[in-house]
Amino acid sequence: MKIETLAVHAGHTVDSATGAVSSPIYLSTTFERDIEGTYSRGFKHARNDNPNHQAFEQGIRALEGGARAAAFASGTGATMAVFQALAPGDHILANVDAYYGTTRLVREIFLRWGLQADFIDMSDLSAVKKALRGKTKLAWMETPSNPLLKIVDIAAVAQIVHDAGAICVCDNTWAPVLQRPFELEADLILHSTTKYFGGHCDVLGGIIVTKNDTELFQRMRSIQYEGGAVPSPFDCCLILRGMPTLPWRMRAHSETPLTFAHFQG
Ligand SMILES: Cc1ncc(COP(=O)(O)O)c(C=O)c1O
Repeated sequence: MKIETLAVHAGHTVDSATGAVSSPIYLSTTFERDIEGTYSRGFKHARNDNPNHQAFEQGIRALEGGARAAAFASGTGATMAVFQALAPGDHILANVDAYYGTTRLVREIFLRWGLQADFIDMSDLSAVKKALRGKTKLAWMETPSNPLLKIVDIAAVAQIVHDAGAICVCDNTWAPVLQRPFELEADLILHSTTKYFGGHCDVLGGIIVTKNDTELFQRMRSIQYEGGAVPSPFDCCLILRGMPTLPWRMRAHSETPLTFAHFQG
């Protein structure tokens, strides 16, 4: 399926109860138990799961070609879950020019919590090799970076990091559709869906997509489930609503600046 077609269909299903082709927003916070006390329809509490939340995860998971996805109330909430899934004493690498909220999160919260971190210029592969330690568990790539739009060679960093027994995360917030990190061997993709997925400056959201269903991802799922930093049904619906137009908007976002770049007055 072409990405434009996938963006139209991913996460969108016909509502089985009513036949509505656009999913209703399920505001219920609790779901009915069966007489046996089980939840055979799959939903229990909206903090844990809800049809809109599930559609949001399925839509972006399919668009990125991953195995599983976990949605959060913001990109920062999703970032937090990635670091929380590690253990105190673990070491991470990140680009020096990553989004300031991400670097602040590491410096203000996770260093105090016992994580060790080095911020390096990830476009310099020798710097990546040099910064690796025995306890390095994860390399955080944000490419293109916010706000300097610096580029990291995802495949080259992934190879170095994998050879050292660690995994790599690509914050793909600024290049959805245009960049396919799983094809370049990234293990996890993170999006602040507050940006291009939402597209209209009126909804916060974040998501982690994993290439494989790993134990580390299950810890992130547990942080989502137990911690409760999930998006509202309305927010999930808004983000999914923007997806069919995402490939076309990304094309416009790319073409317009290119016209400016080529302009000679
Ligand atoms: C690259 C990147 N990652 C993460 C975030 C955080 O996302 P949110 O604003 O949804 O918390 C941002 C926000 O600007 C960002 O630019």
